[in-house]
Amino acid sequence: MNILFATSEAVPIAKTGGLADVAGALPKALNKLGADTRVVLPKYGTIPAALAGRFEQILHFDVYFGWRKEYCGLLRAELEGVTYYLIDNERYFKRHGLYGYEDDTERFVFFCFAVMEAVRYMDFHPDIVHCHDWQTALIPFMLRTRYALDPAWAYTKSVFTIHNLKYQGVLGIPELQDLLGVGDETFNFDSLEFYGAASCMKGGLVYADKITTVSGTYAEEIKTEYYGERLDSLLRYRAGDLVGIVNGIDAEAFDPLSDAALHTPYRDSLALKRENKLALQRELGLPQSAKTPLIGIVSRLVEQKGFELIMATFEELLQEDVQFVVLGAGDHRYEHFFNDKAYWHPDKVKVWIGYDDSLARRIYAGSDMFAMPSQFEPCGLSQLIALRYLSVPIVRETGGLKDTVQAYNEYTGEGNGFSFANYNAHDYMHTVRRALAFYRDEKSWNRIVSNASKEDYSWGRSAKAYISLYTELLANGKEQ
Ligand code: ADP
Ligand code: GLC
Repeated sequence: MNILFATSEAVPIAKTGGLADVAGALPKALNKLGADTRVVLPKYGTIPAALAGRFEQILHFDVYFGWRKEYCGLLRAELEGVTYYLIDNERYFKRHGLYGYEDDTERFVFFCFAVMEAVRYMDFHPDIVHCHDWQTALIPFMLRTRYALDPAWAYTKSVFTIHNLKYQGVLGIPELQDLLGVGDETFNFDSLEFYGAASCMKGGLVYADKITTVSGTYAEEIKTEYYGERLDSLLRYRAGDLVGIVNGIDAEAFDPLSDAALHTPYRDSLALKRENKLALQRELGLPQSAKTPLIGIVSRLVEQKGFELIMATFEELLQEDVQFVVLGAGDHRYEHFFNDKAYWHPDKVKVWIGYDDSLARRIYAGSDMFAMPSQFEPCGLSQLIALRYLSVPIVRETGGLKDTVQAYNEYTGEGNGFSFANYNAHDYMHTVRRALAFYRDEKSWNRIVSNASKEDYSWGRSAKAYISLYTELLANGKEQ
């Protein structure tokens, strides 16, 4: 089975969030099950030179879209058993960072067209093209329109995965019309039109053969108005083709026993984990104290992650014997808030604004608890990494957080974390206090940590679910 992943990020090449973890790990897991999964993404200027140097150029060609003619280089390398292709166009992709440019929609429309053309030169015929988030959502649309009768794509089925429904790639109708070179008929509500504008995301939601999202709970939530980001009626209409498959993590890449970033390797031992906590406190200039609970946060600093609740309760929680370590980048107001708190509470709060993979790992290892009270969370990988590093998650019961964290029940001894239901600051604060209380009770804490250590957070089961989905799609194709 040949599967082509089209994605805007993938570990180890480029990462801003969980999509990169998924697009890095899932292909490996699928290939272990016998598939040939390959990954195509843009050649960003930020790809480390050593990694970029491992790619060889296959060829270059022109991509025509709208009235444009753009250069496109196609490169290829095999990394850790997976074939990666890079789409090269320096005007669009040789920039700082991955996103956040005024012409982001144009950049990714180009990327979609480039993928459609590049397949001719890959020596690989995809049975399935698996697209991820709005940046690649126009591929299923193109497959049904301009490329419907193209032999390079004959019999290819499309899968579209929603990693985050909030980011949709919305732009004006004239702009998308100009980029795609299509007529007015494309901008109806049963195509790419979206409340008077145009939506890239709808290319995936309307035209993909199957839609998936990254947890069972989020698959249900997005069919409701509260979580549906104005696409809930379309998702209800396509409910028969929509499934939730929970993400896993790459258990080799996130293994505290072999993680080179850590001070002391460990797997199940809380005593060895404590060495990492003392080392983190020393590294960041916090008072070294094994008994003071240390709460970690590693996150994009955006509203989605529940920072309104964290901010509303921060001062009150600092009255307790507790330390906070925050690593993240994003909205200025959250960055400012945490910098301010670190300034006023140097013995209790440390903040690192930016993206740092190695520090993130030391925070997962050095923290006792991990706070993630998200407003919504399609899946969440941070809480899975935290669990793997025995940092007990404190989460809101939404999306994948609900599906992966079970609240501790002191009567049955079950549960691997702490959770609350409503998006409410006091509920969050009480839940943190509850976690702090159990932390002081060594017997309970050992139990919670032992529960966390026993579960399997790797890709195994979910990769099988994807294979079944692909198999079902291909079987349907043959009947027609
Ligand atoms: P999202 O994709 O919404 O950002 P996830 O929990 O799915 O959330 O994935 C986030 C991933 O990005 C995790 O691997 C997390 O450790 C990592 N991450 C987030 N912020 C940072 C940061 N500032 N530095 C290093 N890693 C980060
Ligand atoms: C998105 C979501 C996150 C999910 C990740 C990978 O970034 O916000 O919840 O884990 O994609 O699927």
